[in-house]
Amino acid sequence: MEHFLEFKNITKIFPGVKALDDVSFGVARGSVHGLVGENGAGKSTLLKILSGAYSPTSGDILIDQEKKVFNNTRDALHAKVAIIYQELNLVPELTVAENLLLGHFPQHSGFLNKHQMFRVAKKQIEELMEEFEPATKVKNLSIGQRQMLEIGKALLHNAEIIAFDEPTSSLSEREVTQLFRIIKNLRDQGKAIIYVSHRMDEIFKICDTVTVFRDGKHIQTFPEMQAVTHNLLVQRMVGREIKDVYGYRPRQKGEKLFEVTQLRGKGVKQDISFDVARGEIVGFFGLVGAGRSELLKVIFGATPLESGQIFVNGQSVSIKNPTAAIRHGICLSPEDRKDEGIIPVRSVSENINISCRRHFLRAGIFLNKSKERENTDHFIAKLAIKTPSRNQLIGNLSGGNQQKTILARWLSEKVAVFLLDEPTRGIDVGAKYEIYQLMYQLAEEGNAVVFVSSDLPEIIGVADRVFVMRDGAITGQLDRKDVSEERLLSMALPQA
Ligand SMILES: Nc1ncnc2c1ncn2[C@@H]1O[C@H](COP(=O)(O)OP(=O)(O)OP(=O)(O)O)[C@@H](O)[C@H]1O
Ligand SMILES: [Mg+2]
Repeated sequence: MEHFLEFKNITKIFPGVKALDDVSFGVARGSVHGLVGENGAGKSTLLKILSGAYSPTSGDILIDQEKKVFNNTRDALHAKVAIIYQELNLVPELTVAENLLLGHFPQHSGFLNKHQMFRVAKKQIEELMEEFEPATKVKNLSIGQRQMLEIGKALLHNAEIIAFDEPTSSLSEREVTQLFRIIKNLRDQGKAIIYVSHRMDEIFKICDTVTVFRDGKHIQTFPEMQAVTHNLLVQRMVGREIKDVYGYRPRQKGEKLFEVTQLRGKGVKQDISFDVARGEIVGFFGLVGAGRSELLKVIFGATPLESGQIFVNGQSVSIKNPTAAIRHGICLSPEDRKDEGIIPVRSVSENINISCRRHFLRAGIFLNKSKERENTDHFIAKLAIKTPSRNQLIGNLSGGNQQKTILARWLSEKVAVFLLDEPTRGIDVGAKYEIYQLMYQLAEEGNAVVFVSSDLPEIIGVADRVFVMRDGAITGQLDRKDVSEERLLSMALPQA
């Protein structure tokens, strides 16, 4: 079959890292081509080459049989290639309209020309975004709306090849449904779509074809989804079989370690009460926006507590800020680790060892270099963080490996109560397994673990007890032996 887009022997070498190793495959028009692989496998690098952001060390890109050389992203846009990045590329302080016009127009185009182009764009984007207001600042849009804006930008340039890099990682259910509808539309219009995701269910839902990368190499392309099972795909990705990614380990529950009573605060609209025992893992399930992250932030003192009490070891504690929370042995690994945690110009080692304690206390805590190295190497091995060395700048790691690094920071803490918000977001299946094992280990050591997840199978697979939230309130509680997808969803979904 003739492919509209062809990658031919693409290799990309960074200092100390071969990100892509002689990759060749083709993408057809009118199809959604999935691209999967572990964190650091080279997926984003390939898309960045396709977009002109990086140039390949060797190899060619062919579009419609014609060799293309992109020296920058503008070249790629002119060739009708658009990438919707893992990290969206909009300028938050500018308006929707300004972002649309930004950078991509011929320098000499006058005001009128821009005006007319903008009108065309507005019409297209109105079809994508329900409440599209050109004068709105982008920082006031939801992630979903921002994504629609990026897609709008692509359509404005009549893109024929559109690549999505983990587009759903921060979207609500409704936004995902909407995005899938748009992607299917684009496919039916004959565009060539590349879709990168760690969520296998999405790959099976939306893709017509799937390609697997491992360690920068093209492992296999399955031309038809019917020919591939979930297990086979995972096996090709990680190079070994993972029978049960959750690998649940039952534990003895100890005495009550942590409790909140009648707690209210920002985004927590009804009194919340729950407790966690030593050795227990409690999961909070709910749809995006149900108030789970807000609850954790209030407990951690990141947003103000309005009423209610928090107890650690039976003692009432006052938590006015994160410093106080950490002093009382409570630590939060935030949902948006990228915004809230990463220090891009520092090494992997520094990012792991700038502990949340030091981060918040800013006190002169004695640094033990050899301990730090030991801790770093432990987590690099344990979570399979793909990096040429512990001294690599974290900003040079792949998205998922940055996530693992920041998570390692929180897991290095000597605290008693771990609050983990979406701990496996953007993380590949092999590393997910290791993160669950670490959570069991923390619990076995007598800690209390509270985690938030929107991934239903993960909640069911890992939690000893599940709380469900909806609209800032707890709507139900189930023990591990009683959980099922139906029961959790019926408590999480808005009531008719
Ligand atoms: N600018 C850079 N400098 C140095 N190394 C880099 C750079 N960009 C990527 N790499 C390395 O190239 C490899 C591939 O990274 P890439 O971002 O393509 O992975 P990925 O498949 O997108 O992973 P993820 O699922 O985590 O997003 C990784 O080892 C990464 O550390
Ligand atoms: Mg990536």
